[in-house]
Amino acid sequence: IFAAVEMAPRDPILGLNEAFQADPRAEKVNLGVGVYYDDNGKIPLLAAVKAAEEQRLKLAPPRGYQPIEGAAAYNKAVQTLLFGTDSALLDAGRAVTIEALGGTGALKIGADFLNRLNSSAKVYISDPSWENHRALFEAAGFDVGAYPYYDAATRGVNFSAMLAALKGYAAGSIIVLHACCHNPTGADLTLEQWQQVVDTIRERDLVAFVDMAYQGFADGIEPDAAALRLFADSGLEFFVSSSFSKSFSLYGERVGALTIVTADRDASARVLSQVKRVIRTNYSNPPTHGGIVVATVLSDAGLRAQWEEELAGMRDRIRLMRTQLVERIAAAGVKQDFSFVVQQRGMFSFTGLTAAQVERMKQEYGIYAVSTGRICLAALNSKNIDTVAKAIASVIAD
Ligand code: LMR
Repeated sequence: IFAAVEMAPRDPILGLNEAFQADPRAEKVNLGVGVYYDDNGKIPLLAAVKAAEEQRLKLAPPRGYQPIEGAAAYNKAVQTLLFGTDSALLDAGRAVTIEALGGTGALKIGADFLNRLNSSAKVYISDPSWENHRALFEAAGFDVGAYPYYDAATRGVNFSAMLAALKGYAAGSIIVLHACCHNPTGADLTLEQWQQVVDTIRERDLVAFVDMAYQGFADGIEPDAAALRLFADSGLEFFVSSSFSKSFSLYGERVGALTIVTADRDASARVLSQVKRVIRTNYSNPPTHGGIVVATVLSDAGLRAQWEEELAGMRDRIRLMRTQLVERIAAAGVKQDFSFVVQQRGMFSFTGLTAAQVERMKQEYGIYAVSTGRICLAALNSKNIDTVAKAIASVIAD
């Protein structure tokens, strides 16, 4: 039965981890996957997470099944992070949240549900977008196109082209948007531009699917939700996928959520009943640990404050790496202006390096990056930043 099975290519992001692990060079650096490392090159276990885990260990709870949609306390905590403590939308019962297996799991449950509602709708992702967006929506059965987004000349967003494209799409088309810290470009819309996107989505009867994997990595929990709050105020129905992989440093626990905003409480109940069927036939119900840990931290004032402080620490260290990388690249003799790295938001920099230059970084220096030129700034540290800056200088020199 497997005779005709062809070898699949490695995943463009996670496949880099596999190649990196196999690389014997001691000085290798993995700037591929979006993971935050501390200055010692370690993935941190946040103190707030550790405290919540200790509490849980002491309680030694039984490991029964979770509800299909996950823990109520977790789902409520997610809604408050997305829409704030004082939300008319939440008060009206217009949001349904289910605990999902990371942001990816949330996207897939949402995509599968949307496909059941209208399989002929077209999905549009940004050009470029996170590598998995296209694959995931295609795997859910959709035809996937792309709307113009990044402008290499200005290193910003080509907003007029984006808006013109949105205005041309058929009613019912699904538009995948990045709430903050656009992956891979680090170029976000301004709030005024977001408002125009929201207005266009309403006028053209489009369906927004807002992906928020990096809340807290641009300016903070509240400011990073600003675009989402515009959607909340608009009265529109929309989808949100969110993740605690990065903000809680809980990558392997797969803690995310899908939130669907409906017209009213009655629609929410109907939607939840259907989404539960999608989940049940995929993985039945989510695992216990990560969601309970997150809910514990978010519902305890002390732990929550500690978490926000730790999150700010991660954000600040990434900012420092941005500034230092720009300085070191200049110090390595590069004339080209790299100050755009400081303007970009979130974990990534879209460096402009070509696929061939990225390949040379890997071959000659053991530095791994995504072939599109995306590097993860959160993997830089005081020990490897010079090596990386010099490698960049060397591959763009000739
Ligand atoms: C990334 O873009 O590197 C992260 O979101 C991790 C992933 O799953 O691709």
